[in-house]
Amino acid sequence: MQTILVLFGGSSTEHEVSLQSAHGVLVHLDRDRYTPLMVGITRSGRWLRYSGPLSHLERGDWQGHPACVPCTLSLDRGERRLLLLDGSGASEPFDAALPILHGKNGEDGTVQGLLELSGIPIIGCGTLSSALCMDKDRAHKLVALTGVRVPRSARFSRDMALSQIIQAGADLGYPLFVKPVRSGSSFGISKVIDPHHLPDAVEAAFAHDRDILLEEAIPGFEVGCAVLGNETLTVGAVDEIELSGGFFDYTEKYGLITSRIHCPARISTEKAAEIQRTAKTIYRALDCRVFARVDMFLTPSGEIVFNEVNTIPGFTVHSRYPGMMRAAGLEFSALVSELIRLGVEA
Ligand SMILES: Nc1ncnc2c1ncn2[C@@H]1O[C@H](COP(=O)(O)OP(=O)(O)O)[C@@H](O)[C@H]1O
Ligand SMILES: [Mg+2]
Repeated sequence: MQTILVLFGGSSTEHEVSLQSAHGVLVHLDRDRYTPLMVGITRSGRWLRYSGPLSHLERGDWQGHPACVPCTLSLDRGERRLLLLDGSGASEPFDAALPILHGKNGEDGTVQGLLELSGIPIIGCGTLSSALCMDKDRAHKLVALTGVRVPRSARFSRDMALSQIIQAGADLGYPLFVKPVRSGSSFGISKVIDPHHLPDAVEAAFAHDRDILLEEAIPGFEVGCAVLGNETLTVGAVDEIELSGGFFDYTEKYGLITSRIHCPARISTEKAAEIQRTAKTIYRALDCRVFARVDMFLTPSGEIVFNEVNTIPGFTVHSRYPGMMRAAGLEFSALVSELIRLGVEA
């Protein structure tokens, strides 16, 4: 029996989404093999040992549960202990950590660094790959070196003049996308069709990050590929996002109002295989381990263009990563066990 520290919540705009993902993972954790040690991180960044029912994660009110005890990690290498801060001096041992945190302060290498420093096996990507994948611009630059196409783009920080940004927009051409360099769940992202709307889009993106990207809009549709493994890689089925307009924004991602996910994607087996190969190339280029979801665009002429890597993708029963793995024959519970095996092995 192994004890797995499952981290959920987080000081991030994607706190809510993380609760749903953690619920998905915990419900599918094989209790004959693993015992979860649940720790919720509040929006303000407090760590709380949680032992209440899983339904409170799904409902989002876990924090008010009496079974919450302030806690922290022991940083001593090899200790692998959670220290309870209730005055009892008690601590709980565990074997490995599974961060189910999305976005900043969780998926961006910060928590991974803490775990690595403490000698704790991470079930997921490490510090470098998490940080690289969170920075959409630097991820693009590294992936471009492998020969995979990336969107043309321009990066700006807050101190740059709006006139320079407007000029870059004209050079890239419209429509274009404006996005925070580090974001998730489409927060702060706009598709700009009319140049007059560029200043508003720029402001919205800067509200989420100190750096932003202007990116050419890639025609066609977005495809994803679930990748699993360390040295030897396994891929899931390729999926496809069918949009009926606009882009895959927050409302569409979690409500699927007008958009649909097709898994497997409605493309030829040859094209799907090419996408899977490209996903593996990207995964390796960004030093990913254990698991990650690689998102790309497929253009009308059949070209594959890199979009981003999600090092901790959504993990609800309806989420894309488990869906792609299920389509490739790996059910959710078996998938979670495999992730843990790979994380401990890495
Ligand atoms: N260059 C682009 N061309 C076409 N669509 C894009 C582009 N960039 C982003 N999008 C659309 O915006 C959505 C969110 O952008 P993405 O960079 O994936 O951010 P997030 O990390 O929030 O998912 C994508 O799923 C896609 O629908
Ligand atoms: Mg995305």
